[in-house]
Amino acid sequence: MLSDPHSPALNVKQNRILLIIGGGIAAYKCLDLVRRLREQGVSVRAVMTRAAAEFVTPLSVGALTSDRVFTDLFDLNDEREIGHICLSREADLVIVAPATADLLAKMAGGHADDLASTILMATDKPVLVAPAMNPRMWLHPATQRNVKQLKNDGIHFVGPNVGEMAERDEAGPGRLAEVPEIIAAAEPHLANSPIARSVTPLRAKRPLTGRHVLVTSGPTHEPIDPVRYIANRSSGKQGHAIAQAAFALGARVTLVTGPVTLPDPEGIKTVHVETAQQMLEAVRRGLPADIAVFAAAVADWRSATIPRQKIKKTGDRPVIDLVENPDILATVANLEAERPQHVIGFAAETRDVIAYAKKKLLAKGADWIIANDVSSTTRVLGGDNNTVHVVTPENVESWPQMSKDEVAERLMLRAAEHLRRTTAAAE
Ligand code: C5P
Repeated sequence: MLSDPHSPALNVKQNRILLIIGGGIAAYKCLDLVRRLREQGVSVRAVMTRAAAEFVTPLSVGALTSDRVFTDLFDLNDEREIGHICLSREADLVIVAPATADLLAKMAGGHADDLASTILMATDKPVLVAPAMNPRMWLHPATQRNVKQLKNDGIHFVGPNVGEMAERDEAGPGRLAEVPEIIAAAEPHLANSPIARSVTPLRAKRPLTGRHVLVTSGPTHEPIDPVRYIANRSSGKQGHAIAQAAFALGARVTLVTGPVTLPDPEGIKTVHVETAQQMLEAVRRGLPADIAVFAAAVADWRSATIPRQKIKKTGDRPVIDLVENPDILATVANLEAERPQHVIGFAAETRDVIAYAKKKLLAKGADWIIANDVSSTTRVLGGDNNTVHVVTPENVESWPQMSKDEVAERLMLRAAEHLRRTTAAAE
């Protein structure tokens, strides 16, 4: 759809996003992204790469932005009327979605051979990138190198998520972040935006502002020898989602994570550890905190001795002498001086979920235990959904099945409210 580029709609003080759509199967999701942003009153201008036009038409994108869609660097009309410099500077934020491996490589290398890459070189505005590609392409050292470079250059990232690919039998990191996740990541760059104002009133108040939230996430790896380790099944999705939700609600967040394939959440101090002992040390260094959430699946045992060389097969049954790991949750919940005001643990069980969670609440000294059924039929481990029971000393609240992101947000909203009440009661 053609419109006058100097139309009043772009001159009024309104949040403006320049959306660069890359060529990938996920490009169609940008239609929904544009729709949701516009529903929030944000004006969106779109630039499409040549490859993007193979996946969605400029016509459909233009219909949703109510604006012309820009595709070609050498379109003289564009250069006269707007120009790539103006396009790159008039927005408050540039979003690149889906960002392909090729687009990331161009950005990291400083190429400027088409409209999209030229804008990205010329912009003086924050850039938020939502990558989407085949998992092997994402995990390729070249892409990882480019991502690292771009992060060093101050480029913001959202996703990619882990999951099924459009290609059959392909799964792993590489899915475009969901539209609400992209919008949530855009939000901090649109201060006082309609997006920020339109979210639920409690959320918009950012009730964790001024608070420090510490979260553990992922598994731990306990070495048996230089090449083998003991671990738990944990993707880190729930813990990372909690860290992100706390951040979105205004908190300063420290995330202590074991080995996961998830990217470090934007804006959050992320400390990487391997073992339970390292996790405990990192948690203690992260204190004091107002809220501590222990979502990590910590290995209960570690090998007492770790030989310097790989254990060889000798025909005899090898003996691994296991010793118990420190219980990080119990240690922190029982601290005298530095105990966080609100300590939340998780209980992953395969049966008698609530009964075990109640015992755990007392045994570990936590304030709340979030109990979830991880038996093989529930597909919680590694999946995107969770069904939890919030076990407190007073009662048990069972929540319906929802996404791990929703669990995270609801949990952090509840924790913020609890903190507000207990702080008020103490004063
Ligand atoms: O005892 P269990 O492992 O079932 O307890 C689960 C809860 O305790 C989770 O919140 C987990 O993060 C925490 N935990 C811990 N350190 C351990 C074991 C569990 O923080 N060594």
